[in-house]
Amino acid sequence: MNEPSIPPEDEKRAQTLARELHDHNIHYYVHDSPVVSDAEYDRMMRELRALEEKHPALASPDSPTMRVGAPPLDSFEAFHHDPPMRSLENAVTEEEIAAFEERAKRFLLQTYDRNVETFDFTCEPKLDGLAVEVVYENGFFHSGGTRGNGISGEDITQNLKTVRGIPLRLRFPEGGPEPPAYLAVRGEVFMNRRGFQRLNRERLEKEEPPFANPRNAAAGSLRQLDSRITATRPLEVAFYAVGRVEGFIFHSQSHLLESLPKWGLPVSPVWRKCANLREAVEFYEELLKGREDAPYEQDGVVLKVDSTELQNELGSTSRAPRWAIAYKFPAKQETTQVEDIIFQVGRTGAITPVALMKPVRVGGVEVTRATLHNEDEMRRKDVRKGDHVLIQRAGDVIPEVVAVIEEKRPPDAEAVPMPGECPICATPAERPEGEAVVRCPNPTCPAVVRESLRHFASRRAMDIDGLGEKLVNQLVDSGLVREPADFFALSKEELASLERMGEKSAENLLEALDRAKKPTLARFIYSLGIRHVGEHIAEVLAERFGSVGDLSRADTETLVSVHEVGPQVAERILRFFSDANSRQMVENLLSAGVEPESPLKAADGGGGTAFSGLSFVLTGTLSGRSRSEAKAAIEAFGGRVSSSVSKNTSFLVAGERPGSKLKNAESLGVEILDEDAFERMLSREKGS
Ligand code: IVH
Repeated sequence: MNEPSIPPEDEKRAQTLARELHDHNIHYYVHDSPVVSDAEYDRMMRELRALEEKHPALASPDSPTMRVGAPPLDSFEAFHHDPPMRSLENAVTEEEIAAFEERAKRFLLQTYDRNVETFDFTCEPKLDGLAVEVVYENGFFHSGGTRGNGISGEDITQNLKTVRGIPLRLRFPEGGPEPPAYLAVRGEVFMNRRGFQRLNRERLEKEEPPFANPRNAAAGSLRQLDSRITATRPLEVAFYAVGRVEGFIFHSQSHLLESLPKWGLPVSPVWRKCANLREAVEFYEELLKGREDAPYEQDGVVLKVDSTELQNELGSTSRAPRWAIAYKFPAKQETTQVEDIIFQVGRTGAITPVALMKPVRVGGVEVTRATLHNEDEMRRKDVRKGDHVLIQRAGDVIPEVVAVIEEKRPPDAEAVPMPGECPICATPAERPEGEAVVRCPNPTCPAVVRESLRHFASRRAMDIDGLGEKLVNQLVDSGLVREPADFFALSKEELASLERMGEKSAENLLEALDRAKKPTLARFIYSLGIRHVGEHIAEVLAERFGSVGDLSRADTETLVSVHEVGPQVAERILRFFSDANSRQMVENLLSAGVEPESPLKAADGGGGTAFSGLSFVLTGTLSGRSRSEAKAAIEAFGGRVSSSVSKNTSFLVAGERPGSKLKNAESLGVEILDEDAFERMLSREKGS
């Protein structure tokens, strides 16, 4: 029998899609400036997948569809590193950095009789993730592994293939240079703060334990035996070194960082070649100052002697190279003492133990409370009232207790039991079998109502400007608001009658409420607070159903047929829409004039906002908004925020004390907005 032949148009289409998807990955991950929307990218991917399913012969091993993961393994094979992947010496003070340079100079003088006055250093952020090596043969992804003990790690080829920033084939840039015939590149796989927070929110929605920090999340995601799980995790990569290379010579670290992106391999968007140690220390200080604003966690700066020749002369000790050092940022862990353990009731009724602590500064922020997550976690860590504890802040998450310092436990330290009833409404608490969470089952519990309303108004949900925690509390306490629709019926007089609320703020709030009446459907669905329906699932549902009505009428079968919606999520959605109270709550919102905007309509109507398709980069400090607020505002109007300036950047928003991005933007001819111009642009959007 003949093989069924593939229609030429299918073959051609598959090739085009594969090529374009490869290019889009490079735009996105290397240049940080995507040229198509995520939705368009997904559509192309689905089309290619369908073609490959129809004609399996089309599915080449480097097809972009291969990023979905392969069937689970029983265990990992070993992955050998040649030469070994070394670690880095650490320094925490400027003196230690100076001593490092002195040692290197002395070594060169004594061993080679070479007198070096100053070194050129290439400085990069020290990213906090998992070190990996990826091997390319003739430009094709071949295999990859973890660092392990430096000599051999685990072969995680399947998992690395799912990381979208790691090209499955290298680019051959026009005008060269061609990628090396053999290239082992080394770098860090990490999770940015946003991805980390989203993953943790999703895990909490699914009642799975959250990851303690982005590093653990990245490592845990990469070391999955089932690469299909890895494929769902928002992992990124930055390469910073090479192992064995054949057919190319890197003259310096800066040459390496310039070359890798040409072949489609991402490197850190920020790095600098410094002419001496003083400039390197300046770079450190700049990064330290911007630490909280960076999209990902960094635990310091790595200084590398730039010249490869000098690197080779300096060589390594058994542990670490003599030509590089990690200059670490101050720790974001501290110790303090637990003064009390209280219980908070969240919007799903979950009762969470919280440690109240003696105030302590952690990574520049004062901390007085830390979550203990749930009953099991509290027991496992055995945290008691009076204990001295190690706490940490990571990835902007709520501070948490890492461990108890048992040697310092006072004799009268007291374990606090979980309450048998809701601390707010005294309804007997429930802990469903197999769940870690104790809950207040009363849907009218004041805490549950209050938290649901806060969630509704919050930035990620309906994003009602000015409607924060305090005001929601006041509105609930005064009896003016019982359910979300009540917000929209508030009058200026009612608002102005509240304490600390002037006429002007009342007017502002009414305007904000008015603006909030046209949310995207995804935001609207998310704001309803259906359990297990996080931001991401809300987006998926909005794309699929296009209206609340259609979503509310979907049956189990239809729901689970939606990619990423499992039986648990489907059940929650069904339960929500079959409950008379929740249905009434949704209807009341629609009657109050809230009109969720369907993504389906937006797509074919081509409407969009003035910001859609525009890409912004932020630099310096704005007086009126934090970085994340500015970013949220841009995104709310359909714009996109990137971390570095490229020729595809539409606007650079420059606040006080702008960084080097300003120069970059000027040299690329990117339009620059000062804070006033930016605010005017935003208010035009709000008004329209
Ligand atoms: S260079 C010989 N550069 O830090 C060169 N390492 O403490 C060795 N790391 O295992 C590594 N960012 O996981 C280098 N820009 C960077 C880095 C970096 C993070 C990690 C890497 C390494 C560890 C050593």
